[in-house]
Amino acid sequence: ATSLQHACETATDANRVYADYANVNWDELAFGLIPTDYMYIMNYSQDEKFSQGELHRYGNVELSPSAGVLNYGQGLFEGLKTYRKEDGRLLLFRPEQNALRMQMGAERMCMPAPSTDQFVNTVKQTVLANRRWVPPPGKGSLYVRPLLIGSGPILGLAPAPEYTFLIYASPVGNYFKEGMAPLNLLVEHDYHRATPGGTGGVKTISNYAPVLKAQTLAKKKGYSDVIFLDSVNKRNLEEVSSCNIFVVKDSVISTPSLDGTILAGITRKSIIEIASEYGYQVEERPVPVEELLDADEVFCTGTAVVVAPVGSITYHGKKVEYEIGGKSISRQLYSALTSIQMGLAEDKMGWTVVI
Ligand code: COI
Repeated sequence: ATSLQHACETATDANRVYADYANVNWDELAFGLIPTDYMYIMNYSQDEKFSQGELHRYGNVELSPSAGVLNYGQGLFEGLKTYRKEDGRLLLFRPEQNALRMQMGAERMCMPAPSTDQFVNTVKQTVLANRRWVPPPGKGSLYVRPLLIGSGPILGLAPAPEYTFLIYASPVGNYFKEGMAPLNLLVEHDYHRATPGGTGGVKTISNYAPVLKAQTLAKKKGYSDVIFLDSVNKRNLEEVSSCNIFVVKDSVISTPSLDGTILAGITRKSIIEIASEYGYQVEERPVPVEELLDADEVFCTGTAVVVAPVGSITYHGKKVEYEIGGKSISRQLYSALTSIQMGLAEDKMGWTVVI
């Protein structure tokens, strides 16, 4: 049998053995790591390209101390969720979009990337092998985390000689400790997330540690997170640490355009498409920070975050609060998106993939 067949058989065995749910308190799920049974590993070397990978028991991985990813941050990650439907079927949301984004990021980071088919198939195998960890309907989702890393040894600064594509998963609930409650965000003035010509637009691991300083300081002051401004004019909205941002005024929905410093969020893209479908005017453009001051609504989007309403922003010491009623646009978009993701509404866009 080929190693792919072997991996499939292992996954099928895992399904048979673990037909029931894992021992998790599904009512207490937060966005924290709960290790599952299996991870998928596929290696790439100059001669072999991406070989057929395999499922392995979840656990630590061995890396050379001089691996490109450890020394020079040559790595990308993705995130996508699996929901369980009432009929037991599992739904992925637009996984090919994650594959394409990884390919774009790999090009920027001088890395080879798995093909879209390889990406989607291996995500499916990982989910199937861990299916007992997919929360019951309405309790959360299985967050799938693909990584692409420069795993080969390198000392001088250059692309690593070998790469590893790895997928693991964890059941998750709400991202913010606030749960579904509105976020209180601080506009950040001292630190920036991305620069023109840099890597802000791709999902490289090296975009994330640099936000920790500003985020930690803001959290100490009681804020949920920070809003970064553009690093050139210090004027336009960029992103929150882990998600995209939208501003609503008079039913017009605006979000920073993808100019190279903004991450091309798949939830961002989906919300733009749903909002347009609902007849809202959606503008992708530079959004000056002052627009927060008289906005009707502000909300964040991301795979982990989903659609999170913002209850207040603080800008130069001034706190602006937003009314968030049950009829808010963000609530409407949240319901429309999650109904598709969870298989509760007809998927007219053809976004979900059943496994
Ligand atoms: C996601 O939303 O999936 C992300 O990758 C953001 C991460 C910081 C949790």
